[in-house]
Amino acid sequence: MRRVAGALVAATLALLAGCDSLPGRPTPDQRYVRPEQVTDFATLYGQNCSGCHGADGRLGPAHPLNDPLYLALADDADLIRVTSRGVAGTTMPAFALSAGGTLTDAQIAALVREMRARWARPLDVAGVSLPAYAAPLGDVQRGAAAYAQACASCHGAEGAGVAGKAKGSIVDGSYLALVSDQGLRTTVIAGRNDLGMPDFRGAAGGAPLTATQVADVVAWLAAQRPAFPGSPYPETN
Ligand code: HEC
Ligand code: HEC
Repeated sequence: MRRVAGALVAATLALLAGCDSLPGRPTPDQRYVRPEQVTDFATLYGQNCSGCHGADGRLGPAHPLNDPLYLALADDADLIRVTSRGVAGTTMPAFALSAGGTLTDAQIAALVREMRARWARPLDVAGVSLPAYAAPLGDVQRGAAAYAQACASCHGAEGAGVAGKAKGSIVDGSYLALVSDQGLRTTVIAGRNDLGMPDFRGAAGGAPLTATQVADVVAWLAAQRPAFPGSPYPETN
């Protein structure tokens, strides 16, 4: 009897020592991770960014981040600043804890580091001479001429769109009210590689837009922004 009991104890001990998976005990994967300790890119990006910037950084309502030209245009300081503080007046939220968001500075740095590691392809854009990321608005009149030359073929003479090319209106008051001047500038320079909008090199149908033309077109677009978005209200009956 004692021998049997002893053997049972020994067997039980051996079993316990041999595995870390008692019934009900969470595996390392299942253990609770405090929100501020999450550093996994898929989780951070998936929970915070993918809804607007697209599951793989493309094809979302907001500008694609999975774009080598964009990642060459914006440096780490730009990406960290915008992600931390958001863009006032648009739907881009402030994520830094210090700005009322939910992410630590370390998490924001990890996001930016990983976006670059996964989506930047410096060789693809080597030798491209990019306009500056940010610059003051240019001249509205000259912008109208640059628009007619570089954009109207797809967006229409008035910016309302051309069937089969660009569908939406880029002079719609509600759209312009929700996008910043920098957001427009980013689109003019980087295009929307996910939706078939060319970057600044392709927009003019040959010659790349010059830095002056970029600033001018952005000024023209910004000048279409209504003073009171949403009004006059559409007629209802
Ligand atoms: C609710 C929608 C929304 C979410 C969520 C969101 N963004 Fe944005 N984001 C936007 C919009 C809209 C813009 C463009 C704002 C503007 O007009 O300048 C933007 C702009 C940006 C830009 C700057 C683009 C430029 O012009 O240089 C970066 C970088 C960026 N977002 C990163 C992120 C990251 C990283 C996350 C997740 C941590 C995130 N965003 C989550 C909507 C969102
Ligand atoms: C070859 C066609 C083409 C040309 C040329 C072109 N675009 Fe676009 N653009 C598109 C398409 C396609 C989209 C995606 C949305 C759509 O279908 O309306 C787009 C989207 C945009 C958007 C909205 C981006 C967003 O999602 O926030 C803006 C603003 C814009 N274009 C401005 C311009 C300007 C300014 C020029 C000239 C410098 C230009 N485009 C030239 C095809 C073009």
